[in-house]
Amino acid sequence: MKALILAGGKGTRLRPITYSLAKQLVPVANKPVIEYGIDAIVNAGIKEIGIIVIEDNSPIEESCGDGSRWGAKFTYIVQPDPLGLAHAVVTAKPFLGDDDFIMYLGDNLIKSSLGDLIAEFQEYRPAATVLLTPVPDPTQFGVAEMEGDQVVRLEEKPKEPKSNLALVGVYLFDKVIHDVIAQLKPSARGEYEITEAIQGLIDRKMTVRSHIVTGWWKDTGTVEAMLDANRLILEDIEPSQLGTVEDSQIDGRVSIAKGAQITNSKVRGPAIIGEGCIITNSYIGPFSAIDRNTIITDSEIEHSIVLQDCEIIGATRMDGCLIGRGAKVKQGVQKPSVLRLVLGDSSEVTLP
Ligand code: G1P
Repeated sequence: MKALILAGGKGTRLRPITYSLAKQLVPVANKPVIEYGIDAIVNAGIKEIGIIVIEDNSPIEESCGDGSRWGAKFTYIVQPDPLGLAHAVVTAKPFLGDDDFIMYLGDNLIKSSLGDLIAEFQEYRPAATVLLTPVPDPTQFGVAEMEGDQVVRLEEKPKEPKSNLALVGVYLFDKVIHDVIAQLKPSARGEYEITEAIQGLIDRKMTVRSHIVTGWWKDTGTVEAMLDANRLILEDIEPSQLGTVEDSQIDGRVSIAKGAQITNSKVRGPAIIGEGCIITNSYIGPFSAIDRNTIITDSEIEHSIVLQDCEIIGATRMDGCLIGRGAKVKQGVQKPSVLRLVLGDSSEVTLP
C-alpha cells in the first residue's frame, strides 16, 4: 500500500498566516500540521508516500525533505491547478500505479492510529473505506447518509445534510477508484470531488466500508480549529525540561526545549516552549505553543499559538491568538497612548 498526502490548497481561511506559509506547515504544538499525518502513515508501516503540492520546489518539500527523516521515500507531485481532490488522484496516477493507497488530507489531524484501518482494508478488500465523524455543522463537509452501518449516499457540502456524519479527510482506495474518477464531471464549484467519486463506487454496487472515528479529528482550516487542535495535541504532551529555568514556577505538563530560558516567570501546562525562546517576567498559560527563538517579556499569554522569531513585550493579556513568524506585539511607551498597527492583509485584531 502507498500513501498520498494532499498538501495543495490556498488556506484562505487562515489568512494572513497563509500568505507566507502553506497551511500544512502551520505548527500545532510546535510541529507542522502535515508531520502528524506523515507520522501516522509511517507508523502504520507505509514507506512510499506521494505528496501533492502546488508548485515545483514547494516550501512543503523544503520543510519535509525526501522522507529519510522518517525512513520513508517521498515523491512530490505537482498539481498546479486546484481542480479538486479527485483530480489530485489523477495527477498522482503515475506514482500510484495499480496499488492500493491511503489518501490523507494534509491539513487533517486524527488521533486514532491508521494501522488497524489498513489491516481491515487488506482483509476485506472493499473498493474504498471512508472515515466518518459527527460534527455540529455538516454543511461544511462531505456528508454520509447511512442505512444501518451502510453508507448509501455521499454528498459534498450539502445545504440540507441528511446526517451529521462528516467525511474525515482520510480515505483508503483500491485501483478501481481511477476508473470512476475518469468518468467524473466537475461539480458546481468547478472541482472533481472525491466525494462524488466514492458515490460512483456505491452506484456501481461496489463495497464502500465506513468507520466512525471515535477519537478527535480536526480539519485545521480555520484559526479556531487550529487552536483547538493545538489544545488537543498539548493535552498529551510529554513533559521535559531541557532549557534553563530560573526563579520560575513550572506547573503541570510543560515541554521546554533546549536553549530556552525561562526567568522570573510562571508556565502552567499543558504548554510547549521551543528552542531558544526567552521568557522573562511572564505568564504562559495552558494550551500555549511558543515556537523557537521567540522572546516574551512582561506578558501574559494563554491558549495561543506563537510562531518562531516573534517578540511579545508588555502584552497583557493575550488569549486565543495565532501569531505569525517574526511578528512583534509591544506595549507603547510614548504618549498619547494609541493603537499603532502595522497589519498584513486580512489580519484580525480584537480590542479588549
Ligand atoms: C474536503 C472534502 C470533504 C471533507 C473535508 C475534510 O473538503 O471535500 O468531503 O469532509 O475535506 O476535511 P475541503 O476541506 O476541501 O473543503
